[in-house]
Amino acid sequence: MYNDRVLEVFANPKNVGEIENASGVGTIGNASCGDIMRVYILVENDVIIDAKFKTFGCAAAIATASVATDMLIGKTIEEALQIKNADVVAYLGGLPPQKIHCSVLAEEAIQAAVADYRSKQK
Ligand code: FES
Repeated sequence: MYNDRVLEVFANPKNVGEIENASGVGTIGNASCGDIMRVYILVENDVIIDAKFKTFGCAAAIATASVATDMLIGKTIEEALQIKNADVVAYLGGLPPQKIHCSVLAEEAIQAAVADYRSKQK
């Protein structure tokens, strides 16, 4: 069902875990399958210097979260909001149609983590 790149990233995911003193944390549930994605970001001078994730999700959720958190590191908060699930899916060389919703989890968890970060700045 998955291409080789997805399987490779799934087998060796990056950025798995938590950030203890995270600047922002976003947790999103997937209504269609009940799975959960949590993204942690560490921000310094408006730049994301570290990002990690934890998920109760399928191989597609793990692979897309690995790629999405990698994309996050080094980006400004504004740039982070531009990361779309389509970019992650393209990087992975595509996902089966029934697995596209899994890639939305990472995008939405990133947005939730940024919103959490911003709410703490006020
Ligand atoms: Fe739930 Fe993929 S089936 S995240």
